Amino acid sequence: MEKNPIGIFDSGFGGLTVLKEIVALMPQYQYYYLGDNARAPYGPLPYETVYAYTLQAVNWFFSQGCELVILACNTASAKALRTIQQNNLPPSKKVLGIIRPTAEVIGNYSKTGHVGVLGTVGTVQSESYVIEINKFFPDVTVHQQACPTWVALVENNQADTPQASKEIKYEIDKLLQNEASIDAVLLACTHYPLLQHQIQKHVPAHVQLVSQGQIVAKSLQQYLLAHPKIEEHCSKKESISFFTTGSAESFDAHAATFFGHQVASKTIVL
Ligand code: DGL
Repeated sequence: MEKNPIGIFDSGFGGLTVLKEIVALMPQYQYYYLGDNARAPYGPLPYETVYAYTLQAVNWFFSQGCELVILACNTASAKALRTIQQNNLPPSKKVLGIIRPTAEVIGNYSKTGHVGVLGTVGTVQSESYVIEINKFFPDVTVHQQACPTWVALVENNQADTPQASKEIKYEIDKLLQNEASIDAVLLACTHYPLLQHQIQKHVPAHVQLVSQGQIVAKSLQQYLLAHPKIEEHCSKKESISFFTTGSAESFDAHAATFFGHQVASKTIVL
C-alpha cells in the first residue's frame, strides 16, 4: 500500500506554531509543510482570493500524494475550507481546518459564558467562530476583535517593542470594553501565540488565554484514531519537509521563531 505524507498548509510561517504541537504529539508521521509566503498575509484578502490561493495549495499537496491536508491557518479555514470540501475534493482526499476543533472545546475554558476571539480581519468578518462555537456551546456569547496590525508585529520581529505593547493594549481594551466578564480569550490566529506574553500583560489575571496548537494536535490525533483507513495510508517516516512559495533562504531565517528550531525549506511554484 502506498503511504502518504500529511499536508499542513498556512499562508506563511504561522502554521508552524500548529505543526510544532502536531509533531510533538505525533512524531511518528511524515509531514509536508507549505507556507504561501509569497502571497501572505491572507488576513486582509477577499474571500475569492483566499479561496483561489488555498485551493492551489491543496491541489499541490494532492499532486505530491498527500491524502489528508490540514489548513493550519484560521483565515484559510474561515474563507476557503467549506467551499473546497463541497466542490473540490476528489474521492479519498480529505481537507480539515482548525476552526471546528477549536470551537468544539473553547466553551469549556469559560465560567462566565463570555469568550473573546482575537483574529485577523478576514477571520473575524467571516463570523466562522461565532457560528461554530454557538453550535457546540449555545449558551456562550462570543465577542470578536480583529487585530489587523498584530501579524506584522510578529513577522517584523517587533513583538517586544513598546509600540507592540501599545497596539496590543488598544485591541484588548476594545474587546474588554465590549464585555467585561470575558474570562477566556482565544488566540484565533496562528501568529498570536508569539505575542501571548505581551497580551497577558493587558488582560486581568483571571482571564485565560487559549492558543490552538495543542487543541488542533489532539483533535487530529482523535480524527486519525476514528478513521483507521485514513490513518493506515499515512506514512510513518518520522520526517518533516518544508516548502515555501517565497524565498527558501528567508523562510529558513525566520521559521525557527515559529517552530522552535532551524529548518531547511525548498521553494515551489503554485
Ligand atoms: N495564518 C493566518 C491566520 O491564522 C495569519 C497570517 C495571515 O494573515 O496570513 O489567520
